[in-house]
Amino acid sequence: MSLSLQIESPAGTLGARALTTHRLSLRPLQGSDAHRYCAWFGDAELMAHAGAPLDPEAAARAFRASLAMMEQAAPTAWLWVATERVTGEEVGLVGLVTREGMPEIGSIIVSPQQGKGYAYEALACIRDEGFRHLGLAAQFGCQLPVNHRSIGLMHKLGFDQVPGHPDRIHWHLSRATWAEGLGSSVG
Ligand SMILES: CC(C)(COP(=O)(O)OP(=O)(O)OC[C@H]1O[C@@H](n2cnc3c(N)ncnc32)[C@H](O)[C@@H]1OP(=O)(O)O)[C@@H](O)C(=O)NCCC(=O)NCCS
Repeated sequence: MSLSLQIESPAGTLGARALTTHRLSLRPLQGSDAHRYCAWFGDAELMAHAGAPLDPEAAARAFRASLAMMEQAAPTAWLWVATERVTGEEVGLVGLVTREGMPEIGSIIVSPQQGKGYAYEALACIRDEGFRHLGLAAQFGCQLPVNHRSIGLMHKLGFDQVPGHPDRIHWHLSRATWAEGLGSSVG
């Protein structure tokens, strides 16, 4: 299967809207989130297996770029800040960001909130939002081979590994595959 054959333009006229899962509130990233976004992307421990941490200037640039992608007429990024519904405590950042025409799913869960199933719960919701509401034809993922947690997560989310990329693990989930299996079972 050639990855390039799988790329289709997302419908892409809808922006991120507030969502809830069983335990989480997901609200779209907004301008006032700059400090938390930069803190997360600058955290060496958190970013250890997700690429290098960003210095403050690079993080600020990435934040502005992400917001611009979310706010343009045909959005190419959909990011949410996740918090616990019961406590209001921060859980992390989740969403889809388009790179080279491919909407990639991803998450950063703050250290004290890891291992509680929150990444799966949030990303299952985002995956379904991407297909049901945003009209994406396919979703993608990309991870370092050392990121074992994230690899387990992508399998659990139903993504297929795309062969032929030794330095990074690439993932793909088509709308058709999602609709066949996962779409009916995850609300
Ligand atoms: C990767 C990350 C998002 C996982 O978040 P999390 O909330 O701890 O993950 P969950 O608790 O939802 O676990 C989901 C699945 O991930 C995998 N997983 C989670 N913790 C794991 C661990 N310690 N070892 C191996 N697999 C693990 C499992 O498959 C798990 O499913 P299971 O509960 O049925 O075993 C989180 O560790 C993180 O934010 N890491 C730093 C940033 C990052 O690397 N992001 C991903 C790259 S884009």
